Amino acid sequence: MPKVRTTYVCRECGAESSQWFGKCPSCGTYGSLEEQLSQPTASTAPASDRRHRAKADKNRPAQARAARHLDAIASDRQARFSSGYQEFDRVLGGGLVPGSLVLIGGDPGIGKSTLLLQTARAIAAERSILYVCAEESGQQVKLRATRLGVTATDPAIATNLYLLPEIGLEVILAELEALRPAVAVIDSIQALYFSALTSAPGSVAQVRECTAALMRVAKQLGIVLLIVGHVTKEGAIAGPRVLEHLVDTVLYFEGDRYAAHRLLRSVKNRFGATHEIGIFEMGDRGLDEVLNPSRLFLGNTDDPAPGTAAVVACEGTRPLVVELQALVSPTSYASPRRSATGASYNRLQQILAVLEKRVGIPLSKLDAYVAAAGGMAVEEPATDLGIAIAIVASFRDRVVDPRTVLIGEVGLGGQVRLVSQLELRLKEAAKLGFRRAIVPQGQSLPTDLGLELIPVSKAIDAIVAALPATEKPTRTAGN
Ligand code: TYD
Ligand code: MG
Repeated sequence: MPKVRTTYVCRECGAESSQWFGKCPSCGTYGSLEEQLSQPTASTAPASDRRHRAKADKNRPAQARAARHLDAIASDRQARFSSGYQEFDRVLGGGLVPGSLVLIGGDPGIGKSTLLLQTARAIAAERSILYVCAEESGQQVKLRATRLGVTATDPAIATNLYLLPEIGLEVILAELEALRPAVAVIDSIQALYFSALTSAPGSVAQVRECTAALMRVAKQLGIVLLIVGHVTKEGAIAGPRVLEHLVDTVLYFEGDRYAAHRLLRSVKNRFGATHEIGIFEMGDRGLDEVLNPSRLFLGNTDDPAPGTAAVVACEGTRPLVVELQALVSPTSYASPRRSATGASYNRLQQILAVLEKRVGIPLSKLDAYVAAAGGMAVEEPATDLGIAIAIVASFRDRVVDPRTVLIGEVGLGGQVRLVSQLELRLKEAAKLGFRRAIVPQGQSLPTDLGLELIPVSKAIDAIVAALPATEKPTRTAGN
């Protein structure tokens, strides 16, 4: 085997040097040099290298390289199987695909290990699974497993679930070859160590090379790899973005530390749609699926507060009814404060400007806060109308009928714009007992949902419909 040497490559400009510098000699960025193997592995090799290799491969049998008709390619390797959780399967696009790599990112302590251990138990009912615990000792994992009720007294678990407390990449690869499990969990990729590199576990070079090596083995043996990745302060999975390019699917496991529910969100998926979400709830005995989640994000509809409005956000193919709350009050600062929790800050600013200019509501001297209930993040434009109505309701100190849901994007001219998947959203609202929906005009409307539909073309019309001027406002904030 040729001697493996390392070089240093700048993350910013790509310049290479044989020595490490604190500052890149080429572009001057500090701390951007990363260790890299000088003999790149196939997956990380530059295109020119691959061309050389292709030339050397001339002796291969002709069929191996020949283009084939789509129908001639066997698809049986693509047969998906279930992770044991409907919510997880939905985010994956319908289950696990043999030979695929799934990266699961999330803040420490959010429940990634818990999710994967529970998934391991479910998978072990039918298939073999190797759980590599690189961060915790076997005993620690056993303790958690006992808490989750994953015990070896279950015959399927006794025969199918293997634990490997190990950080050495070579050992893990050898174990994958020997066991050939259907699924392998790597918890976590930042804890793995490849001895050919001198940098510490968790460095960009280690993370990249370990992922590339695992991928080669997994693709070759048709093993599903579920890889845990920690998230940096900026919110990206630690390691270069190349990691996200390497894997087939990138999921984020997220949630409010103070709330019990957790969202599994797909941000990249070669085998399904992105923006799908799966919802779980963390309890004393691990995670439970939440199959009817909208209730989590609705407040008390019997006693509605002024400044709340219900919207239907669509996350992938899943509609979610979420309650938005707004509060506007006179500012005591030179420039008013604006804050959006679980909603888009920029959209809030835009909606405030539209309400001021197009509807004539004087908001520029008022602080404005918008929050989504239950720690849910709704950044979709279709929730604009809900934000606008919640702000106006707070301004007028009025209550929006809690059985009315608002759907529509608000344009800069104050017009209400069309949204996607309107029927799906309306069905969800009807299912949850809403009676009225204010929707964009000009969109084809379903008739048999048992909802009174009010099409509007301008934000001002939506305000009139949602907050009819039948009664005098009790109090006007801002005066
Ligand atoms: P963990 O899966 O270790 O998180 P990660 O792998 O993402 O770092 O989850 C740890 C948190 O979950 C910890 O704060 C305790 C909590 N937890 C429960 O509330 N209930 C449970 O049954 C388990 C196993 C953990
Ligand atoms: Mg963990």
